[in-house]
Amino acid sequence: MKPILGIESSCDETGVAILRWQPEAPGRGLLANVLYSQTRLHADYGGVVPELASRDHVRKVLPLLRAALAQAGLELTDLGGIAYTAGPGLVGALLVGAATARAMAWALELPAIAVHHMEGHLLAPLLEKDPPQPPFVALLVSGGHSMMVHVEAIGRYRVLGDTLDDAAGEAFDKTAKLLGLPYPGGVALAELAEQGRADVYRFTRPMTDRPGLDFSFSGLKTQVIMAWKKSDRSEQTRADIARSFEEAVVDTLAIKCRRALEVTGADQLVIAGGVSANRRLRAVLAACGKRDAFRVFSPRLAFCTDNGAMIALAGAIRLAAGQRQGEMIEVFPRWSLESLSALT
Ligand code: KG4
Ligand code: ZN
Repeated sequence: MKPILGIESSCDETGVAILRWQPEAPGRGLLANVLYSQTRLHADYGGVVPELASRDHVRKVLPLLRAALAQAGLELTDLGGIAYTAGPGLVGALLVGAATARAMAWALELPAIAVHHMEGHLLAPLLEKDPPQPPFVALLVSGGHSMMVHVEAIGRYRVLGDTLDDAAGEAFDKTAKLLGLPYPGGVALAELAEQGRADVYRFTRPMTDRPGLDFSFSGLKTQVIMAWKKSDRSEQTRADIARSFEEAVVDTLAIKCRRALEVTGADQLVIAGGVSANRRLRAVLAACGKRDAFRVFSPRLAFCTDNGAMIALAGAIRLAAGQRQGEMIEVFPRWSLESLSALT
């Protein structure tokens, strides 16, 4: 199969990658991967400003494309297809990647494929050497989503649980803001938690006391505000609260993962999305896996957060199965994972 170009622009990262997908040689075939993060652009506002995000994707997408081609040592004419994130995400940001990809596909007379951003995240471990084999359970935890998914086959997804309010990453980011940490908060909060003591505060593990696989994280935020307001507001206290918040989220996710594996009878767990970069989450799930005899798969850290490689991968798999997108430039800011077409 000829190399596939992948373009990601659903939020605040422009990612471009080129992948020659070889299912029989996992972990190989990634010819280029370049990324530009807009973090600094949005830092002054304490969150992503959609209009600024779109304009910055417009500025960055072609230079990144040129850089990716140079990294791969390829010309445009060497490409075999173009994959782009078509949703879910910020509509203006998505349109930049979609319009670029569609225009290129049209001019080069190549097939193009619209990729679901969360399918990209959940397939990202297939970019590694020892990939999971469906069926498996996937915990998708990013800034916009917290989902437990039963991957019956590639393209056949059953959402077992979803968030009722904040996504896990959003909870990290909002809690970090409450504690006065600089944007982007999630990573800063996780770093601060390393200095915190575990036994000073204890927050609840939301929705673990009843059956089901849905999540709710917004109540934790309130517990954090109360604790912080009543405290001496010292640096140590800030770290202690961060530690206990992180433990509450990680424990909750781990409890739900074990439940999902039990319900489905699966023995492989994929964790993906930005929050899967969290060290404590990875360590706790690895320990659970050892104890309860399931295997845990996660992408390398750079592919936990948004990137073009996962979009190239999901697109390459769908293109190889003969799927194509029409010429209309269309994006889907809200898009159900379950509505995707199966490959077989
Ligand atoms: O997947 P992603 O890059 O973008 C979305 O699709 O949303 O995820 C970004 C989210 C942010 O909320 C960020 O705070 C969170 O992932 N995140 C983390 C860590 N690294 C990124 N949360 C906790 N611990 C981390 N180490
Ligand atoms: Zn993402």
